[in-house]
Amino acid sequence: MSTASRNELEGQIALVIGAGSIAEGIGIGRAIAISMTRAGAHVVAADMDLESANGTVKLIHDEGGSAEACSVNVLDDTSITDLIGGIESRHGRLDILHCNVGLGKSGPSENTSPADWRRISDANLTSLHVASQAALPMMRAQGRGVINVTSSIASVRHVGYPHLAYSATKAGANQFARALAVELAPDGIRVNSIIAGLIDTPRIGITLAKSYGARSETEMREARAQQCPLGRMGTAWDVAEAAVFLASDRASYITGTELMVDGGLSASIRQAMDG
Ligand SMILES: NC(=O)c1ccc[n+]([C@@H]2O[C@H](COP(=O)([O-])OP(=O)(O)OC[C@H]3O[C@@H](n4cnc5c(N)ncnc54)[C@H](O)[C@@H]3O)[C@@H](O)[C@H]2O)c1
Repeated sequence: MSTASRNELEGQIALVIGAGSIAEGIGIGRAIAISMTRAGAHVVAADMDLESANGTVKLIHDEGGSAEACSVNVLDDTSITDLIGGIESRHGRLDILHCNVGLGKSGPSENTSPADWRRISDANLTSLHVASQAALPMMRAQGRGVINVTSSIASVRHVGYPHLAYSATKAGANQFARALAVELAPDGIRVNSIIAGLIDTPRIGITLAKSYGARSETEMREARAQQCPLGRMGTAWDVAEAAVFLASDRASYITGTELMVDGGLSASIRQAMDG
């Protein structure tokens, strides 16, 4: 559970893209949205699955926070620009843009078709460009803004099974953040990525058991926990803490870098890794 309670994002408008969860429970984007409202922000919780975004907003409203749900498909440029245009019309500003969607296709790379590759690349990389370009005029006019990206341990390490398109595009996301940070520094806009390690989200139960060669979901979860030097997978709240920190003025001198939230995984030479 997030401990964010200070009002450091009070009065700010935050857009979290991918703020739902692909199954019941707390995915990373949902935790980020909730944690940002706990820090005082009004959150626009956007997701391809509007029902799931509504679920996030309900959790926020239930605890007295401020949020609205929106539908967006990061594979559709117009959908992204319409979303951000709507925020401009309704709120007149955008302080925080957090891009959280990540798609991938694990398995031998010969099974990843060019069409798969383009879809993954569009979701994990092109959408970052489209969203940040749409947000820029507002952030420039404000003289400040924060753009954060949820990246993965897979962007810097082999994950223990083939996951090529995901790894390569998440690595691109890291460099996207670094290069854009330098370009936008004179505008007072900071850009960073969060490298999430092995995180216990609803998604992993659906997508990962096979990749681990595990007989059951429990075995897969145990294998992941054992890989992490801290002895457990991270939670979505662990990643959300980093997102709130990077969005806040506590991180006012931090831009163009990656924040590892991986329980020491990337510092270890343990053999098998995943993301
Ligand atoms: N779970 C992990 O172990 C882990 C580790 C490292 C990085 N990550 C990254 O963290 C992020 C969130 O992961 P999660 O495990 O919480 O997954 P998740 O699938 O629960 O959350 C992602 C959300 O994105 C939404 N989404 C999917 N396609 C979309 C599209 N085309 N347009 C708009 N929204 C779309 C989904 O509906 C979902 O609500 C991803 O970028 C993922 O790559 C996860």
